[in-house]
Amino acid sequence: MADFTTQYMGLYLKNPIVAASSSYTSDVKHLKELEKNGVSAVVLKSIFEEEILNGFNESLDLDDRFNSSLEFLDYYDYELKQESLDKYIQLIEDAKKALTIPVIASINCISAQEWTEFAKKFEKAGADGIELNIFILPSDTKKSSVEIEEEYIKIIRKVKKAVSIPVAIKIGPYFTNISEMMAKIDKEDISALVLFNRSYSPDFDIDKLEITSSNIYSSPEDYTLPLRWIALNYKKVNCSLAASTGVHDGDTMIKLLLAGADVVQIASTVFINGPEQINKMLKRLEEWMNKNNLLNIDQFRGELSSKDTRNPAEFERVQFMKYFSGKKI
Ligand SMILES: Cc1cc2nc3c(=O)[nH]c(=O)nc-3n(C[C@H](O)[C@H](O)[C@H](O)COP(=O)(O)O)c2cc1C
Repeated sequence: MADFTTQYMGLYLKNPIVAASSSYTSDVKHLKELEKNGVSAVVLKSIFEEEILNGFNESLDLDDRFNSSLEFLDYYDYELKQESLDKYIQLIEDAKKALTIPVIASINCISAQEWTEFAKKFEKAGADGIELNIFILPSDTKKSSVEIEEEYIKIIRKVKKAVSIPVAIKIGPYFTNISEMMAKIDKEDISALVLFNRSYSPDFDIDKLEITSSNIYSSPEDYTLPLRWIALNYKKVNCSLAASTGVHDGDTMIKLLLAGADVVQIASTVFINGPEQINKMLKRLEEWMNKNNLLNIDQFRGELSSKDTRNPAEFERVQFMKYFSGKKI
């Protein structure tokens, strides 16, 4: 039997499949199901800074007392946050009791405010690591990209200062120079980079003339996005690399390991194909490794990255020129 063990953000994992943060990782019943089907670690559903702030604002609209009493406002603010925090801490504690695999807590941050203190509480509750999902939408015409990038670093520094467990940073692909940003984040002594988070995208209903949500699940073709950036940055950063977005089957997982990923994180495929897909992916990995006489993952990890491949220029290619020249349409 091939050896699937891998190291990710300082954790020793039995295989490279991690359950990504999603509603599937928000209760113990589903977490156990994921473990039973073979994942090596779980990232819990994120606690959302935005959601708690919105909840607070809605309560403000409902209650007139807030207009007159600052003390009450402070109290209510504290109560609401505490309720969300308590629920999340309970989830960490329950997950730790129910599972034998590592449990990673997840915080969705948009600012470096007091929310960074959450991390300390999650560490105390027993989390094996923290994943920060940071996405600051670059929609403000008065904010430069440098200012936005500094905000990311501020959040990371505050959380890193608060905890001693491993911290992973999950980012989106929208940076002017993503490779430079990865290097900048890596310098903050983080344990892993997760490429990439998938953000909610608005769509339109042209009959009702309304704004709707686009598909929340990724497509199996989407994996080429993390593949390029992992292949280009393999061994250029010190931290672990997780591939997230579009990993739906075993072949895609193998490709991302060949690009240099330490683990893949999966969400959509579990919703679409059921948790049994995890086992199928592991079987495919075993079959492929046996066929290629590979005993462990380190024997092939990064073999097709820009560092190790004979043709690194392929990762720098952005136009389809060659593909279309001479091709009949
Ligand atoms: C229903 C659903 C809920 C999600 N919730 C979260 C979340 O709370 N926090 C987070 O960081 N990512 C969340 N994600 C994003 C996933 O963790 C993952 O990064 C993304 O879906 C890409 O991976 P996939 O192609 O395997 O789905 C969610 C995804 C789905 C489909």
